[in-house]
Amino acid sequence: MGYKDVYDSWKADPDAFWMEAARAIDWDTPPSQALFDRGDHMYEWFADGMVNTCWNAVDRHVEAGRGEQTAIIYDSPITHTKREISFVELRNRVAMLAGALRAKGVEKGDRVIIYMPMIPEALEAMLACARLGAVHSVVFGGFAAHELAVRIDDATPKAIIAASCGMEPGRVVHYKPLLDNAIEQATHKPDFCVIFQREQEVAKLIPGRDYNWHGFQYGVQPADCVPVEGNHPAYILYTSGTTGQPKGVVRHTGGHLVALNWSMKNIYNVDPGDVFWAASDVGWVVGHSYICYGPLIHGNTTIVFEGKPVGTPDAGTFWRVISEHKVRSFFTAPTAFRAVKREDPKGGFIAKYDLTDLRAVFLAGERADPATIEWAQEHLKVPVIDHWWQTETGWSIAANPLGIEELPVKLGSPTVPMPGYDVQILDEAGHPLPDGELGAIAVKLPLPPGTLPTLWNAEGRFQKSYLDHFPGYYETGDAGMKDAEGYLYIMARTDDVINVAGHRLSTGAMEEVLASHADVAECAVIGVTDDLKGQLPLGFLCLNAGCNRPHDVIVKESVALVRQQIGPVAAFKLACVVDRLPKTRSGKILRATMVKIADSETFKMPATIDDPGILEEISQALRGLGYAK
Ligand code: COA
Ligand code: AMP
Repeated sequence: MGYKDVYDSWKADPDAFWMEAARAIDWDTPPSQALFDRGDHMYEWFADGMVNTCWNAVDRHVEAGRGEQTAIIYDSPITHTKREISFVELRNRVAMLAGALRAKGVEKGDRVIIYMPMIPEALEAMLACARLGAVHSVVFGGFAAHELAVRIDDATPKAIIAASCGMEPGRVVHYKPLLDNAIEQATHKPDFCVIFQREQEVAKLIPGRDYNWHGFQYGVQPADCVPVEGNHPAYILYTSGTTGQPKGVVRHTGGHLVALNWSMKNIYNVDPGDVFWAASDVGWVVGHSYICYGPLIHGNTTIVFEGKPVGTPDAGTFWRVISEHKVRSFFTAPTAFRAVKREDPKGGFIAKYDLTDLRAVFLAGERADPATIEWAQEHLKVPVIDHWWQTETGWSIAANPLGIEELPVKLGSPTVPMPGYDVQILDEAGHPLPDGELGAIAVKLPLPPGTLPTLWNAEGRFQKSYLDHFPGYYETGDAGMKDAEGYLYIMARTDDVINVAGHRLSTGAMEEVLASHADVAECAVIGVTDDLKGQLPLGFLCLNAGCNRPHDVIVKESVALVRQQIGPVAAFKLACVVDRLPKTRSGKILRATMVKIADSETFKMPATIDDPGILEEISQALRGLGYAK
């Protein structure tokens, strides 16, 4: 069957399609049906089945006689460490950790926050939670204490599992002080913390609250897998919305297992036993789906890579890892390839390694620019596949499903909708637009298994953010179009979310931080185009009347404030002071116009602008920062 046959077979009978896919999962009690309609456009999948994620990701491979197969390869050029963990070792380690967590009171449904770098123990912590039916929420290490505190208050975890430190090129990220500070800031307090002490930095533990990862497992009983309902939350993952309050995307257990398992063969074209590598971070959705769960559920070997595309030690790192570990399918963000291409435009490093095992490269996280795809195609000589998805969906909305059929690649398009996704381009009033016209991208409800059923503790926000604007549809927040052959093109966000080095960030959240500076009366943050990172945040600050402190000092303080409040990952380094912000007569800040000016694009003077003269002041300020040329 080709792509069209598979897509049509899903469309003809979605329930039968997903029930068939569900047969590849080990259920304690199989579900009686796939879709459960909860009314008000709310849906769940496999709700009445009983199942355990850790069993499916780990134990069942041991039971099937593949216990000696490598489950996790840890390759850390930043600490010069390599290690392999087999499925049987992983089962034993995770069962002990889960047993120790249970001995301290963690049970099914309890939340556990995980704040760890790219080390195998991060996956073990996730799997130990899954084993007990506890709901994990992994927080990316590049976020500051305040962001961690916000997540602690929203998820109200019983426990927090952290590492003593993370390693960034040239600097140690001191996780423990960040964790202590976050717990101090948060209203909710966890019962206890488990700290994995790394040899690069041993953290000071707080007696009675903090336990050493190794010590607290001593003498406990290993825990068995706890079957949970198909609609039991597997995890919560916070992602940026339009405000400083992140959205807690919920993932239900049954659909997560079925969809990820289906995607491994049909999209990524790997078979059990193959090595699959997603060079991302466990703090992002790519890390959840394709470093931890997807490969392990499907019986693949996964790679935990602690390093950067360049500088650890050079632009050949990716190719060294692919060659050494015989990676079949490789997944990364376009920004990582741009970083490599910048240092090694002719692919000199690529030529040094034997990449014969590599069959395909997948890119996601941001728009894949044609130049980057062409560079990768030319040098790697394998299909380079752009695919489009979001934290909310957990797996691809659109892709080139290599395991079904390799469709022709069209540069600039992540190819076609996957089964489960009826993608429509809508006008503002919600009417489908003809091919080739730009509009809001929406997906007809229900969304497929594995996608978000709701937001944690925020069903109203879920409805308002995703369902209300286009009744009967999920609003993706992306704008784009479809061509006559059904290929999708993802062009821009329709909200205040920007994408910096494949990291999704909220300009609204940065504005909230800047507005808290004592001298700032009003501010705006926009995303300007950047050759390496895709976009960079840039802030405009209007100061309080009478403020006569030097502007460069205020700019420096503002940059430091965003780093301190949101974290280094915000990459907020550009800001300028202006007298006024351009607005419409009704007071709306004209951010889109400012973006066009910054990117030196032609723009139409907005008909509703209050005072066109302000735009010249904005241009001048931008020229001072090297933009609006
Ligand atoms: N913990 C702590 N700090 C982190 C971090 C982490 N896990 N990840 C990134 N940071 C810090 C970086 O050290 C940097 O700090 P600095 O301002 O002191 O230099 C800052 O956050 C910005 O990081 P980033 O935007 O990632 O830039 P970079 O200069 O470190 O690296 C690239 C540039 C292109 C090499 C890098 O962005 C990259 O590899 N991106 C891959 C994107 C990716 O995997 N996205 C996931 C979605 S698929
Ligand atoms: P995240 O939730 O962090 O995965 O970010 C999701 C957003 O990243 C999407 O809504 C898009 O705006 C953008 N994105 C992800 N993948 C792609 C892609 N292949 N092409 C264009 N944009 C993408």
